[in-house]
Amino acid sequence: MTVETLLVLDLLAGVVATAGWLGAGATAAAHRSLVALPLAALALAATLARCALTIPLAGAGWWFVQEKLSLTLPLALIGALTGAVLAVPRLLAATRRRTAASADASGGSGAPGGPGDAAEAPGLTDSRAPARVVVPLFGAGYAAAAGPVVSLLIGYPMTPGAALITVALTAAAILATWRMVAGRLPLARVTVATAVAVGLAGTGLAFVPADAIDTGGGPASAHSSGATMPEMSPSAISGAPSHAMPGMPSGTVTSASSHTAPDQPVTAFRGPSTPEPGGTIRRYALTARTATVRLASGRQVEAWTFNGTVPGPPITATQGDLVEVKLHNADIASGVTLHWHGYDVPAGEDGVPGLTQEAVMPGQEFTYRFRALQAGTYWYHTHEVSDLGVRMGLYGTLVVSPRPASGGTPAETTGTGTGETSGTRARNAVDLTLPAHTFAGTTALGDQDRPFTRQVAPGSPVRLRLVNTDNTPRGFALSGAAFRVASIDGRDLNRPGELNRTRLRLPAGGRYDLVFPMPPGQAVLLVDDRPALTLTPGGPAPAAPAEKTAAWPEFDPLSYGGPAPTPFGADDRFDRRFTMVLDRGLAFSNGSPMYAHTVNGRAFPSIPTQLVRKGDLVHMTVVNRGRDTHPWHLHGHTVLVLSRDGREPSGSPLWMDTFDVQPGQVWEVAFRADNPGIWMNHCHNLSHADMGMALHLDYDGVTTPFHGAHGG
Ligand code: C2O
Ligand code: CU
Repeated sequence: MTVETLLVLDLLAGVVATAGWLGAGATAAAHRSLVALPLAALALAATLARCALTIPLAGAGWWFVQEKLSLTLPLALIGALTGAVLAVPRLLAATRRRTAASADASGGSGAPGGPGDAAEAPGLTDSRAPARVVVPLFGAGYAAAAGPVVSLLIGYPMTPGAALITVALTAAAILATWRMVAGRLPLARVTVATAVAVGLAGTGLAFVPADAIDTGGGPASAHSSGATMPEMSPSAISGAPSHAMPGMPSGTVTSASSHTAPDQPVTAFRGPSTPEPGGTIRRYALTARTATVRLASGRQVEAWTFNGTVPGPPITATQGDLVEVKLHNADIASGVTLHWHGYDVPAGEDGVPGLTQEAVMPGQEFTYRFRALQAGTYWYHTHEVSDLGVRMGLYGTLVVSPRPASGGTPAETTGTGTGETSGTRARNAVDLTLPAHTFAGTTALGDQDRPFTRQVAPGSPVRLRLVNTDNTPRGFALSGAAFRVASIDGRDLNRPGELNRTRLRLPAGGRYDLVFPMPPGQAVLLVDDRPALTLTPGGPAPAAPAEKTAAWPEFDPLSYGGPAPTPFGADDRFDRRFTMVLDRGLAFSNGSPMYAHTVNGRAFPSIPTQLVRKGDLVHMTVVNRGRDTHPWHLHGHTVLVLSRDGREPSGSPLWMDTFDVQPGQVWEVAFRADNPGIWMNHCHNLSHADMGMALHLDYDGVTTPFHGAHGG
């Protein structure tokens, strides 16, 4: 069973237990002990199921069970025990009495007793149900409810404050019920109840580990002064694994921020103005403006565009070139920037408003310059109100061709609407850059919002550069041709094997390059199981009969290709370790309370900044406790995947800039901090980022002259 399934079952069991106890209480109050008994039994069974589910969950990591083990499970168990011991025998007695009474058709009933007079009237035959039966049942219900409520609203980590509030609310609900049922509250009993509640809270607090409470200091208000040192467990220092349970905090060593280098503003880290020797300058001018765009089908969409097109103009270069892009904002009222997704540009060129520059407002300009040092498939997009901006069309592709080994002058690369790149490859090579994007519910590949056809001579080498520019994963499939995944996120894979009838799941923001020789017949690229592009050896051809690709096995990049040495690995000694537990919960995001997408229980800008020093080897653990997929994206660095759910990649080394952390998954990645700056580290479901799931990773000594508060 996957962790995701376990988490869902745990929630369900909590809801069933809650409903069972509350239902038992209500039916008991209505003198329906025959109904109350099975409901109580169901609730008991659900409570036991929760205990059972917690065992494998704990095996998957402390993050998945912290609030359960330290509070909600003990609470539910005490409630269940109290309910069972106090109410069930009385319910049984009442049932027997009722059966006897109905057998003895006289219908005689027990003497009416006062509330709490259960000894005399253990059944529920008096006009007011005895508090001793009804209150424990309701109490068990409230205690059970704490489980799903805390998991859904608070998530990880549960703090002592949250634990206290939970216990207090449960106690208050019990007292209120008691008052309603009994009509009065004997002082002694209230005292006992209060003592029990306080004891419970104390037990809960004792279980909450200190560093789960404080995940790294106060809110990082000002990016630099509020920056906190990362958690550094003793194991991180000694290099010896010491975690009894994955994620179980093992003490925190917090070192004071004492940087040696003098402070430097992030704006000091700008790209050079010359290409590498032998390279050329690639000049682009992008004007951001609103436009009504006609897609290939003739459909018109209101879009935010670069140069009036969606996607924006493809930017291409050859390794070693200088890319120079002058951005001008004509009329995008909220402002615009250019962020080079997956491209490790100098920090000052990263295009994060409020952090590396101010947003470019209407009438303003900003020029980006960086050397195209990494070959591969990337994309660019606005980073100002990026959720809306990217959705509306402020994005385009960035493709860098490898420098020819011969050292000859690289051929000019050109782009078309669908990003056709002809470069230094074989004369008949076909190289298509295909950003998939959703416009008002319709998928477009480039500007092609309906299936389209390309003629390709059989045997020609084909490269399809798939880009997912949406917020959610997209499924791609190639029917009619065997292919290889040559690269992921712009980085070539080692010894990629041939694939056939395999579905590819691209994370939001992710890129896969597929290569294959054109087969003698048609090859069809499907997006989310719908034909999008037909490559045909002849002239315009009737669409090939669509294959059912939805059921094809899914490609797993962690077991594809061949192993190769990497500059660092899981066994290295890491200078920093960060853990990000992704969840949902009530939190303040940009000043307003919301049901936010949280990291370690907090939302932007209150998530503590991760602080690194240049040269650090950094380890990141990303845990998804929630029910949404989170495509994790760190700016300025490409991370090496160390493991997913404890399993190391068995194939090619996997370098990614955006990796999908699916519900219940735990990813470990690593990178070398070799690109000084202040970087966003966020979920690339940009609406999640907008709702809090974003933080900063700062290099020690780098500051920003801007306001520093930017969510996504
Ligand atoms: Cu493509 Cu900060 O993102
Ligand atoms: Cu997300």
